[in-house]
Amino acid sequence: MGIGRNSVTFVPLVIILYFITLHSCTAIEIIRDPETVISSGGAFKLGFFSPGNSSNRYVGIWYNKIPQQTVVWVANRANPVSDSSGVLMIDNDGNLAIVDGKRRNLWTSNVTDIAYNTTVELLDSGNLVLQEVNSSGRIVWESFKYPSHTLLPTMKIGVNPKLGEKLKLTSWKSNSDPSIGDFSLELDSVSIPQVITWNGSKRHWRTGPWNNQIFIGVRNMYSVYLDGFSLIRDVEQKGSIYITYNYVNTSSSERFFLDPEGTLIDELWNEVEKEWVQRWLGPRKECDIYGTCGPFGVCNILNSPICSCLKGFEPKSIKEWSMGNWSSGCARRTELQCGRNNTNNEKEKEDGFLKLQTMKVPDFANWVSGFNFKDCQEECTKNCSCIALSFPSGIGCMLWSEDLLDIQKFSNAGVDLYIRVAHTEIDKKKDARLIIIITVLLGVFSISYLGCLLWRWMTQKREKKIKYNGNLHIDRANFTSIAYPDPHKLGENPDLTNFQYQEASNCNTQL
Ligand SMILES: *[C@@H]1O[C@H](CO)[C@@H](O)[C@H](O)[C@H]1NC(C)=O
Ligand SMILES: *[C@@H]1O[C@H](CO)[C@@H](O)[C@H](O)[C@H]1NC(C)=O
Ligand SMILES: *[C@@H]1O[C@H](CO)[C@@H](O)[C@H](O)[C@H]1NC(C)=O
Ligand SMILES: *[C@@H]1O[C@H](CO)[C@@H](O)[C@H](O)[C@H]1NC(C)=O
Ligand SMILES: *[C@@H]1O[C@H](CO)[C@@H](O)[C@H](O)[C@H]1NC(C)=O
Ligand SMILES: *[C@@H]1O[C@H](CO)[C@@H](O)[C@H](O)[C@H]1NC(C)=O
Ligand SMILES: *[C@@H]1O[C@H](CO)[C@@H](O)[C@H](O)[C@H]1NC(C)=O
Ligand SMILES: *[C@@H]1O[C@H](CO)[C@@H](O)[C@H](O)[C@H]1NC(C)=O
Ligand SMILES: *[C@@H]1O[C@H](CO)[C@@H](O)[C@H](O)[C@H]1NC(C)=O
Repeated sequence: MGIGRNSVTFVPLVIILYFITLHSCTAIEIIRDPETVISSGGAFKLGFFSPGNSSNRYVGIWYNKIPQQTVVWVANRANPVSDSSGVLMIDNDGNLAIVDGKRRNLWTSNVTDIAYNTTVELLDSGNLVLQEVNSSGRIVWESFKYPSHTLLPTMKIGVNPKLGEKLKLTSWKSNSDPSIGDFSLELDSVSIPQVITWNGSKRHWRTGPWNNQIFIGVRNMYSVYLDGFSLIRDVEQKGSIYITYNYVNTSSSERFFLDPEGTLIDELWNEVEKEWVQRWLGPRKECDIYGTCGPFGVCNILNSPICSCLKGFEPKSIKEWSMGNWSSGCARRTELQCGRNNTNNEKEKEDGFLKLQTMKVPDFANWVSGFNFKDCQEECTKNCSCIALSFPSGIGCMLWSEDLLDIQKFSNAGVDLYIRVAHTEIDKKKDARLIIIITVLLGVFSISYLGCLLWRWMTQKREKKIKYNGNLHIDRANFTSIAYPDPHKLGENPDLTNFQYQEASNCNTQL
């Protein structure tokens, strides 16, 4: 490793960036607009670019082999160079810096404790790395630690409280302006890890909890889409937790990025069609937007309207709800018995749990480790502030004690959710079932009965006709013998009531 003021290794088509500065020396130029450098394996390119309709110049990293420029990282997001005089350099303090033609500093890597000469290199992963030149080769700064809107394979999103490190994605303001927009994406590790996108300080979308393979709250997201995702916990660095992914098929490019409207998009490069193919995104539908149906509301994209209340709950404001304003959500219809003084001490009046299937579970779960399903149910039953539970495989016992928020009913994904309701709410369900059964049975009986009557009436008419024609040779033994009124009485105004009952009983035996 030659140590000089600068040393650049040129390989045909591939330039490995290798600049070294001395603290005492003047700054070293790396690239001057419009020069570019390419990573060692040729996957990524570093240079100045102008996004969308903008004429501003930014230093960014994009795919080298993908024809339409797809930027994955931007250095000077907030401070563009307004003309083509920009220079990316290693400053005389060892930091990376961008200056314009008037030597105004527009951006710096801003590391304070660089004690040695540094080198900078664009790795084939898309990571721009600033390293100290001594035998330890300490990385003092890297672009993967300062993500823009794109998550590349081997990049991480998460936190390390000890280092004060928080890695998140932040959206661009627009396709023509890479400065920090309204949306950000973070790993939420308060309870069970989940990914959340924020609209400013409001939750915008969440993936639901991580079950060690997938995020269970994303519709149509199966493990096949998430192959390569993993959670990294550093046991020594307490509280340190990251989510990362490494797409298994290295022969094709994949990226996740947060667009200016706050949608997380998973794209795969199709080499044949020469275009990005969206594999998956979130939020995709209105139901995915955080808390669309308010507290205790359930969103189902297949329903119209999409929002309904959990069983045992009713809209807080019928007027708002019917106008499609679901924000105040639902309230319990019948108070829970748990925690109230039971005057008549009736055991049978205890609250129960309703099982809801294929659900996106609510936010803000408490996770209890080491419980089996029975323990979990008991834990919830005995604590009156526990109002729901779930026991997804890969996660275990989840309990809720606050407003249930951001629940969805899926058709083919999700898990079982059990909600605590008053005894009468469970009864109501049974009553309703009984009523339905009785109604159906009554319906069947009356229809067949009417059918019989009609049939009887028609045959009778025909027989009359036949009789008048003088032809009595009809083979309808069953009916003529049992049900036909006595031909002698035909002219005598037969007792209709008796006749009906007789007919009905005959028909019943035929059912
Ligand atoms: C550029 O401007 C045109 C016309 O105003 C607009 O249609 C297009 O969406 C813009 N492109 C971007 C990337 O903003
Ligand atoms: C550099 O970092 C320091 C503290 O770490 C901060 O106060 C300062 O604003 C930063 N400067 C720039 C240009 O980002
Ligand atoms: C930086 O490099 C110069 C020349 O290569 C060398 O003389 C100097 O000792 C280095 N500084 C440190 C702190 O290693
Ligand atoms: C390399 O630099 C780091 C910090 O800048 C220092 O702690 C370490 O001792 C150095 N290693 C060598 C072998 O000089
Ligand atoms: C983000 O929040 C703002 C302000 O609350 C709101 O007007 C906007 O519609 C939200 N954006 C999305 C995509 O939901
Ligand atoms: C990997 O990606 C390439 C290019 O998209 C594709 O042709 C190939 O079938 C993929 N291989 C696997 C195992 O998915
Ligand atoms: C919906 O209802 C909430 C609560 O009453 C109210 O604050 C909000 O303005 C309403 N939104 C619309 C769009 O009417
Ligand atoms: C239940 O009864 C006890 C004793 O009669 C009383 O101290 C307590 O406040 C009551 N709790 C509620 C919730 O009414
Ligand atoms: C009941 O649950 C609440 C909320 O999770 C918790 O704060 C409280 O300690 C629990 N009480 C008991 C007796 O376990």
